[in-house]
Amino acid sequence: MTNKIKDVMKEITALTKRRGFIFQSSEVYGGIASTYDYGPLGVELKRNLKDHWWRSMVQLRTDIVGLDSAIIMHPKVWHSSGHIDEFVDPLIECKNCHRRFKADDLEKTDQCPVCGSKDSFTEPRMFHLMFQTYMGPVQSDESIAYLRPETAQGIYVNFENVRVPARQKIPFGIAQIGKAFRNEITPGNFTFRTREFEQMEMQFFVHPSDSDKWFEYWKEQRHQWYSSIGFDMEKLHFHVHEKLAHYAKAAVDIEYDFPFGRSELEGIHNRGDFDLSRHQEFSGKSFEYFDQANDEKFIPNIIETSGGIDRCILALLVDAYSEEPESSDSDKTRTVMKLHPKLAPIKVGIFPLVKRDNMPEIAREIENDLRKHFMVYYDDGGSIGRRYRRQDEAGTPFCVTVDSQTLEDRTVTIRERDTMEQQRHPIDDIPNMVNNYTENWVRDKGIKE
Ligand code: GAP
Repeated sequence: MTNKIKDVMKEITALTKRRGFIFQSSEVYGGIASTYDYGPLGVELKRNLKDHWWRSMVQLRTDIVGLDSAIIMHPKVWHSSGHIDEFVDPLIECKNCHRRFKADDLEKTDQCPVCGSKDSFTEPRMFHLMFQTYMGPVQSDESIAYLRPETAQGIYVNFENVRVPARQKIPFGIAQIGKAFRNEITPGNFTFRTREFEQMEMQFFVHPSDSDKWFEYWKEQRHQWYSSIGFDMEKLHFHVHEKLAHYAKAAVDIEYDFPFGRSELEGIHNRGDFDLSRHQEFSGKSFEYFDQANDEKFIPNIIETSGGIDRCILALLVDAYSEEPESSDSDKTRTVMKLHPKLAPIKVGIFPLVKRDNMPEIAREIENDLRKHFMVYYDDGGSIGRRYRRQDEAGTPFCVTVDSQTLEDRTVTIRERDTMEQQRHPIDDIPNMVNNYTENWVRDKGIKE
């Protein structure tokens, strides 16, 4: 990594820890490699992102329904999905420094990227990426179970369990958000590649002859969705896969220009009838769909949209991160997270100018009222400037200050995060102001919901 890239990632890592977005897991014990916890701001950002995905993929559509399936599934699921046989990476080790790598990552180099030693790698050996555990008190081959490496299989095996009560006909989809686990050889780049992560996946079941059409449709829909959460679309790209996973007929990634390089955010796959055929074969249960209108039976084909929540959060943080002058005549800089107001963890910061003259009481009144509408944050610590800086780093779109004029006419100063403009408004107008501002922000950026 160049110094500049290291600096941006270092700044973001430091900010996310300082403000309580993301920090290393088990830090008091020295941390555990590539495992992270989301603090008070991180958990709100994640919740808002998931809500936004759920709203666009499930709530606003009549043809997609939701599911929350178990993480530990019958081991046969992973035989039929192909994971037991195929979910392996070639692992090589540097004979000099003993660091391990995925052979594919070092295809074009003959030199260890850690110690620089030449031609000193062991022969590749296949390394299984699924986390294995045992169900129940006896540890034997019969009690082996796995933590799911993707949420998708929970959807496939529940195809009929969901379709029948939801009264859905093909084409329709099932959406799920949940944790997945992969024993990655080379996790890294902060939360980009970790061993425990969350996915937002949707499996769309279609007639085989329509699969190409739906693949194109979902490619465009998912690309557009990233615009709806405020991404700089110049930094998003499609990458068409030449080398396909064992289940895929076609695959395209949506990639983002991270500081460490262009990397995958989400995969859109045409999985053909691989999954349902395999579950039919291995379970002995029929996964055929009967189309009454055309008197036709077939195994549905699947178009999958599979995004990583943690990767999306990291990309959002990178995209939102900005350093700029505190004002036009200042040589000081402020760091501001220009997050989409709908995703921002806190919507309004509330400050009494001073801790006297009834200002804290009025500020608390405003806080209690606004809490019914939004996540808010009360702050009476330090100068107003310092309080603004803290909320800028948190990505809070508005700060409301109660001052001496408030005592006379019940108006407050509302300061906007991106422009730093300040206007006076009656206290009762704050909720409308926040909503109107969010709508204007979305409109000014040309964002379509
Ligand atoms: N069901 C298909 C599937 O899981 P994938 O391309 O292996 O496809 C989908 O994973 C998405 O899950 C990726 O685009 C990425 O956003 C996220 N993801 C995969 N492995 C990850 C890891 N080790 N750490 C963080 N996110 C990961």
